[in-house]
Amino acid sequence: MVYDYLIIGAGLAGLNAARLIPKHKKVLIICKKSPWECNTFYAQGGVATALNEADIPVHINDTLIAGVHHNNVKAVEILSRNSRACIDDLIKEGLEFDLNAQDKLAFTKEAAHSIPRILHADGDATGRMMHVFLLEKCHHPIITDAVVNDLLIQDGICYGAKYYDSETSEKVVYANNVIIASGGIGSIYKYHTNSPAVAGELQGICLEKNIELKDMEMMQFHPTVFKGTSYARKPLLSEALRGEGAYVVDEDNKRFLFDYHKDGELAPRDVVSRSIFDYNEKTNKQIYLSFESFDKEFFQKRFPNIYANLHELGYELPFERVPISPAFHYAMGGIKIDLNSKVVSFKNLYAIGEVSCSGLHGANRLASNSLLEGLVFSKIAIEDSLKNNFKISQKKYTKNVKFYVRNKDIDKKIKNNLRKIMWESASISRNKTDLSKSLQLIDNYLTYDLGRLLFLRLLTAKSILESALKREKSLGAHYIKEN
Ligand code: SIN
Repeated sequence: MVYDYLIIGAGLAGLNAARLIPKHKKVLIICKKSPWECNTFYAQGGVATALNEADIPVHINDTLIAGVHHNNVKAVEILSRNSRACIDDLIKEGLEFDLNAQDKLAFTKEAAHSIPRILHADGDATGRMMHVFLLEKCHHPIITDAVVNDLLIQDGICYGAKYYDSETSEKVVYANNVIIASGGIGSIYKYHTNSPAVAGELQGICLEKNIELKDMEMMQFHPTVFKGTSYARKPLLSEALRGEGAYVVDEDNKRFLFDYHKDGELAPRDVVSRSIFDYNEKTNKQIYLSFESFDKEFFQKRFPNIYANLHELGYELPFERVPISPAFHYAMGGIKIDLNSKVVSFKNLYAIGEVSCSGLHGANRLASNSLLEGLVFSKIAIEDSLKNNFKISQKKYTKNVKFYVRNKDIDKKIKNNLRKIMWESASISRNKTDLSKSLQLIDNYLTYDLGRLLFLRLLTAKSILESALKREKSLGAHYIKEN
């Protein structure tokens, strides 16, 4: 059987694409674990939108400033011009964003936005609410625990994908259009805010097939994650907290961020992360997020999930400050796409959301532009594919379908080393010596007889290191500090 669409990934981008495909089409969505294991589910702060026509140039400008003008301006324009219509469409379909006292949409402010233009839902559970809404709207089958290990590619056409449906068995799916929406790379870093399922395998498959990745050195670190848990995935303390008055202090309650940037806590994310990292390195002082400017009742209502999570971890907000650190958060780089969300030089292969790179985010993503990107570029992918109406002929795919061993005993140790290597070298602050050493280690690991999934992760990590070594000067999230 040939599906009309195969969608790889069930986060916001994949599910919104599925929502927009006409009902009579045959669509299959596959995701690596449960649908909840995606970064959308963990997104707290919100979704940005240009408020109106007058705000479009301002939103564009904020995105370009945060991205240090490394952005693809056309992609930024597309994002901003389509933002309000995409949001209004979801509202029309029944998604409820939080309202203010006048029963109007409540827009908040986050770092590096000139004005409040971020919508949120259930206070600080925006991603989760959008995800639940899109899952409810999804009328197509979703196969869970389906781990993609190959794309069927021949002559600029993607015929489908191959996935593990258990430890030892594989399945092949053929489709007229394949949409990659599998998310970023968080789990190849030791500390991150991502779903543990997000580990960059699809990017690795692309590298193996000579499909170009773009801006892979551009990895974003969120400035404020809670430091006190032992898991790799760190609880996020949303940017919206700082947008509404939380501030960063050292153990002596000094607000040191103004020593680094005139906007202090509200400087672009790369600047805030780097400043916290640098200050901690220089002074060895513990860094905290302080909530003392908040009223308790307001805090509990506006940030109910953060309040409850931190309460469970033993903190009474807003009265107590909590220890923080930056952690890996978001990949600006990914599979290179054109302005139709199509993977460059392919007829029927699309990439959307965090796995893709149109150049929209430049060298540093503006807060809350990622959920918006998922909405806008998934819509564009569906419009383009419906217009092209491309059909594969399954018989024309003549390559052998290869079996790969999923995991090997040796993988676990190397996986952990990989996370450490990436955290220590392709990090908030980088230097050529460490990047080169890490690249050598990874090249060496790639000569081992490894499981398929680790092999793909290593390819993705390698491309981050290579891109970081190629860019000799600091730019946005890519910060070079020579020894
Ligand atoms: C946050 O709530 O701080 C995350 C929002 C984002 O990454 O855009």
